[in-house]
Amino acid sequence: MSQPNPGRPYYITTPIYYVNDRPHIGHVYTTTIADMVARDRRLRGHQAFLLTGTDEHAAKVVDAAKERGLEPLQWADQNAASFESTFARLGIRNQDFIRTTQERHKERVRHYVRALLDKGDVYEGTYEGWYDAGQEEYVPDNKAEQWEFLSPVNGKPLVRKKERNWFFRLSAFQDELLAHYEKHPDFLLPIARRNELIGRIKEGLQDVPMSRTGSGGWGIGVPGDEEQTIYVWIDALFNYLSTVDTEERRSLWPADVHLIAKDILWFHACIWPALLMALRKCPGHEWVALPRSIRAHSFWISEGRKMSKSLGNFITLEKIDDYCQRFGLDALRYYLASRGPLGTSDRDFSEGLFIEVYNKELANSVGNCANRVTVMIGKYCEGKLPAAADPVDGTKELRELCERAAGRHAEAMAALDVDQACAAALEVFTGIDAYIDATAPFKLAKDPARTDELATVLYSCAEALRFGSLLLWPIMPERMQEVWRRLGLGYAPALEDEGTGKLDEWLRWGESVAGTPIERGAPLFARYDASAG
Ligand code: MSP
Repeated sequence: MSQPNPGRPYYITTPIYYVNDRPHIGHVYTTTIADMVARDRRLRGHQAFLLTGTDEHAAKVVDAAKERGLEPLQWADQNAASFESTFARLGIRNQDFIRTTQERHKERVRHYVRALLDKGDVYEGTYEGWYDAGQEEYVPDNKAEQWEFLSPVNGKPLVRKKERNWFFRLSAFQDELLAHYEKHPDFLLPIARRNELIGRIKEGLQDVPMSRTGSGGWGIGVPGDEEQTIYVWIDALFNYLSTVDTEERRSLWPADVHLIAKDILWFHACIWPALLMALRKCPGHEWVALPRSIRAHSFWISEGRKMSKSLGNFITLEKIDDYCQRFGLDALRYYLASRGPLGTSDRDFSEGLFIEVYNKELANSVGNCANRVTVMIGKYCEGKLPAAADPVDGTKELRELCERAAGRHAEAMAALDVDQACAAALEVFTGIDAYIDATAPFKLAKDPARTDELATVLYSCAEALRFGSLLLWPIMPERMQEVWRRLGLGYAPALEDEGTGKLDEWLRWGESVAGTPIERGAPLFARYDASAG
């Protein structure tokens, strides 16, 4: 995984989502994880550019619009707006939102395809073979056979197609792709996906259609052959480049990471790098390097079953809103981050597990811990942070625990393992609880001879709380900012691409200033009683 480099901006992308439907938990998940990673970078003082958006030229958009008596663009406008506003509402701070129907994108795609045509890596031919209409995907014969001529995604029969097309010479890039994988072991993660992909490339690559006919004008025309439309996947993949292919933004390329799920692995990890390899051989495009890495997560399932239209069990926007209302947005973000399918297995979005995690980790651990510390300072120190007798060494154990957790958190975040980052942060809170139990400040408070000891213990607790809240900020920004407010800390991490955070400095033990007023407030996460519903 590419390491953050403060010398240049960090560029992270999500898939651009189809606008034939409204956003659901899967789209929200990928974009939220990307947001957490970008926030983490900014908190560490780096610039981070998060790109998300919508993929609009699919044939199914035309069908969905027609069913509603709308023009494709009207339908796309409505749904793109829904994606954009949903992401904003869910606390996602993206620096741009690309729609493939925007002229800035279309102009660039025509330009790239023209360059490929001129170079000869795109040529005219006839496609005869299988097509997965739901996925808008051409399926090689061996795969079609292996899948028994059914879409592995929606189970619908593959369609036989014969049409004049423009082809991309994918087969010419097999060796170069394999060499790239060999040279860059972290290019695609997790490792099991990488092995799967390399295996598939080694089976042999066929040239792929990169245009289609009969789109009724919905899509980007092939330069010089306007009867043909650029195949929606080629159009879509180029978004990562087209959005930053301007004078001001070109230095963002190559992307540090394309965050995607396993369903679209082939396009991102085989076709896209090959397209870029072809493009960078075209005059004037030598700067078009390959993305630094691709991270493919797995899927959320819902209450133990695959989410599907027929089961009607999607975690829809309505359900997402309901969770936010009952538990708060930050609790939803925490569940997504800590229990999500970042690795190779799918994960269950289950209300029972959600409540369990919420009560155990947020209400009883993070929230209760913040409460205990601030209440004791209120009670025993007149609401002011006491001066520790020896702020550096008085409480070595807790300090070391915090520093270790911070180290693990940094590593996890650099590797996009937000679940591990949550676990590292949580150790701080369980550490504070154990420390309070062991040092028993409520007993110390009764003994006037032990005032210094009490002050040291409470100062340490507040320091550890500060550490924990900083580590959890990218995951739960709103609630953690509330902790900062209560602790009288003036942290203000920038939300835009410019990183102004100083996490390294802030994560120094002993930074808190004695005498700072400490506020106790309502519970950060009120315990949820499932029976009270
Ligand atoms: N438009 C293409 C992507 C083009 S990118 C150049 C597409 N769109 S999609 O709307 O179907 O979104 C697919 C992506 O949504 C997945 O790769 C993943 O990021 C997210 N998810 C969709 N369903 C999901 C789950 N059930 N679980 C987790 N994420 C999933 O494919």
